[in-house]
Amino acid sequence: MTGMDIEGIRLRPAKPTDLALLRRWDEAPQVVAADPNDDWNWQEELGREPPWREQLVAELDGRPIGFVQIIDPAEEDSHYWGDVPAGLRALDIWIGESDCLGRGHGTRMMRLALARCFADPTVSAVLIDPLQSNVAARRFYERLGFRMVGPRRFGDDDCMVYRLEREDWPGDPGAR
Ligand SMILES: CC(C)(COP(=O)(O)OP(=O)(O)OC[C@H]1O[C@@H](n2cnc3c(N)ncnc32)[C@H](O)[C@@H]1OP(=O)(O)O)[C@@H](O)C(=O)NCCC(=O)NCCS
Repeated sequence: MTGMDIEGIRLRPAKPTDLALLRRWDEAPQVVAADPNDDWNWQEELGREPPWREQLVAELDGRPIGFVQIIDPAEEDSHYWGDVPAGLRALDIWIGESDCLGRGHGTRMMRLALARCFADPTVSAVLIDPLQSNVAARRFYERLGFRMVGPRRFGDDDCMVYRLEREDWPGDPGAR
């Protein structure tokens, strides 16, 4: 999986030397707008590799442009998603470099991330929780096949939960 790329986009594990990059992306207007209330605590988290999480940097032809996190919401230690069954994954995604928005790179990042999620045969569906107000991201997820589950408040954030079932996933991009 690690070696797979789609049109120059590749996901690789985030590492402690990505600290400055991730902090800079946290200040980018499109990232602030999408995730105004979370502190990702990068300094500590980049030094940890819990078994229920992958933190990945997306590179375009070797240039870091964005970030994807994949968690197992049943195992994640803060229980952000509450009581959920096994066999799910939850994603966070953003493009930090503003010149890379709206060019299809996010779609490629999602296809790679979803292939990682569904590579585990026990995974039946993937969850995401955009802000209700983030209509552009909601359209983006809907185009990828995610279906609306319903509104949910997480902390101070009014979100809309979406879910992509394995049956609705078009398949491993590497196989096409
Ligand atoms: C959401 C995101 C990952 C999509 O990646 P992308 O490469 O911009 O998207 P693509 O080029 O593959 O697809 C374009 C679509 O993305 C959506 N989009 C979301 N935010 C956008 C932005 N700031 N600029 C341009 N397009 C955006 C639009 O719906 C656009 O399609 P449209 O023609 O229907 O408007 C990316 O725009 C982003 O990082 N946005 C800011 C952070 C964010 O909202 N993350 C999701 C939080 S749940």
